[in-house]
Amino acid sequence: MDKKKIFLEMMNMRHACKLFNEKKIAEDDFEFILEAGRLSPSSFGVEQWKFIVVENQAIKEAIEGAAWNQKQISTCSHLLIILARKDVRSSDAYTQKQLQRWGLSEEGYKGLMGLYKGWVDGRDDHTIEMWSEKQCYIAAANMMSAAAFIGIDSCPIEGFLSDQVDAILGVDTKVFQSAIVIPFGYRANEARGKHRLALNEVVEYLK
Ligand SMILES: Cc1cc2nc3c(=O)[nH]c(=O)nc-3n(C[C@H](O)[C@H](O)[C@H](O)COP(=O)(O)O)c2cc1C
Repeated sequence: MDKKKIFLEMMNMRHACKLFNEKKIAEDDFEFILEAGRLSPSSFGVEQWKFIVVENQAIKEAIEGAAWNQKQISTCSHLLIILARKDVRSSDAYTQKQLQRWGLSEEGYKGLMGLYKGWVDGRDDHTIEMWSEKQCYIAAANMMSAAAFIGIDSCPIEGFLSDQVDAILGVDTKVFQSAIVIPFGYRANEARGKHRLALNEVVEYLK
């Protein structure tokens, strides 16, 4: 089958699923989804994320209460919460470990650190937290696409109270904050149709 056709079928199949049925996702299928997140690109390769997987029903229900009671959370098979890292300044041990992995010469590492400091260290905490969250959204998109590729539904959710979700999960908020919540499972109802602007409304070529 034409690769482009397969890819677009997956893109059309993925939708924001509002209610899941009882079917559980097989463990190796969910690991495939997580692997798509792990392999995602991130700024400077820092991997500004952590993936929390909730299968416990009581925890799902508590998170649903902190997320406008959106039923897709308590009905899903696996609930993913992507945490964004806050310890991403050049002085943070985590960041240094990540940047040291490239095996650069001392000179090369200094150069990279100089660039990194210029990009990150001068910014305020909120901007840096948003920067980490941006990376989490890339991983989120890849995981939802990977899921759709093997017939698994999902719903990206930012309609939740981050402080409450962090408290429910017992997150160390000096280091992490919840960025996005994504329930995965199998749809209970048919998807509604897609509404998208036409390509010529969202694309501008400069030739
Ligand atoms: C960052 C982000 C946050 C979203 N938050 C919610 C949410 O809290 N609840 C929800 O039902 N859908 C949420 N959505 C889903 C969008 O409403 C949905 O993707 C959009 O309407 C397009 O529909 P489709 O994904 O079914 O094609 C979110 C989507 C994104 C990308």
